[in-house]
Amino acid sequence: MASHDTDFDPKDDPTPAELIAARGDLTMNAMDGLTLDGVPLNSIAETVGTPTWVYSAGTLRARYRALAKALKDAGLDAQPHYAVKANDHLAIIGLLAREGAGADVVSEGELRRARRAGVPASHIVYSGVGKSARELTLALTEDIGQINIESAEELAMLSAIATAMNRVARVALRVNPDVEAGGHAKISTGRATDKFGIAYDDAAALYAHAASLPCIQPIGLATHIGSQILDLGPYRDAYARIADLVRMIREAGHRVDSVDCGGGLGIPYRNQPAPSPAGLAGAIRGAFHNMDVTLSLEPGRWLVGPAGLLLASVVLVKQTPLTRFVVLDAAMNDLVRPAMYDAWHGIVPVSAIDAVGPLSAADIVGPICESGDTFARDRQMPPLTPGARVAILDAGAYGAVMSSPYNARPRAAEVMVDGETWTVIRDRQSYEDLWAGERLS
Ligand code: LLP
Repeated sequence: MASHDTDFDPKDDPTPAELIAARGDLTMNAMDGLTLDGVPLNSIAETVGTPTWVYSAGTLRARYRALAKALKDAGLDAQPHYAVKANDHLAIIGLLAREGAGADVVSEGELRRARRAGVPASHIVYSGVGKSARELTLALTEDIGQINIESAEELAMLSAIATAMNRVARVALRVNPDVEAGGHAKISTGRATDKFGIAYDDAAALYAHAASLPCIQPIGLATHIGSQILDLGPYRDAYARIADLVRMIREAGHRVDSVDCGGGLGIPYRNQPAPSPAGLAGAIRGAFHNMDVTLSLEPGRWLVGPAGLLLASVVLVKQTPLTRFVVLDAAMNDLVRPAMYDAWHGIVPVSAIDAVGPLSAADIVGPICESGDTFARDRQMPPLTPGARVAILDAGAYGAVMSSPYNARPRAAEVMVDGETWTVIRDRQSYEDLWAGERLS
């Protein structure tokens, strides 16, 4: 299976019409153009301007419910902890929390966001390879549900802090199962050469050591093998290895009560075949059914990626002898995924007239002074003229949250569509905001 976005041939790209047809919340309406849950994107753009991130609350809820149902249907009592890094907007964390999600956090800021959005501390898991003493102290003060420990060094640090605070830290050991998870090398985390997790062969001994520490309560194991995973094989391999480890640790006389199955489930950016939550639930069940462990997951992208898009306008169309460049007012500072991972995002016109125009190849780029500021190369697009709008699809995960003010470009506005109404959930950053906190000398 082609796993890197660069492995695909542009001639196999889905057309804009195919992309819209495959996304239940999008409709191309002859009068209104592209709508999200029936709300015309043009009316949002006219009011808020572009670039603007637009999310569908309905899609977020539907996806959370589909995941929860798949787990339940597989007979699993598994708690999703939403990986806040995918999109840490308070409204999104809060919406998922109201659906029942906990939170997987990796920094003090994410922990504070999750609490601010209403996630109970007991539903928070703290992951990450380099939690500072200050962050570990906060996690213990808040008494969060679980801290995922990634090294012997980190365990020693937490043990010292917990002892000084006279608190007991509930920990899971994040184990590196040494599997190749297929996705882009920059987001693969489960190989022995990656910085993540405890080496598989060291995990049982470290668990025993953790159990001997007075202020550490080891409750289980955790694993996370990568992101945008489109093949269930690596999950099955990793979970089988974790299940073996649970048995080994139990044989040595220790309690293992829980397994955190991580995140990583991929989404069909290109309309390509992608595993379903039912498939993932099957892989989890296959390894852990009847093992008497409490299960949890850390999904990010799968929940929020397809629930968001980036609305942008065409600044100008530049024709060179070789290429038609469609230059947008959105750029790599807004959505960095194409520049950073060669990621493929669907791009569709917003106006109904544009949508029926004849397709021909274009490079769709931003205005930033780097060739990497390219959203798509050789993309089949209709003729677009200055002022035309496009939607960059599946941008709800690792979109706004990875944006930067590079080239002194203020952060784009964010909008939530909920049923027939929509709300600005984050104002466009002002220029004054851009230099707030700076001093001239
Ligand atoms: N748990 C841990 C410990 C993680 O490191 C991650 C993602 C997740 C859960 C959630 O993974 P997801 O379900 O979203 O795949 N910026 C990259 C993705 C980086 C993922 C980092 N870790 C991108 O835009 O593709």
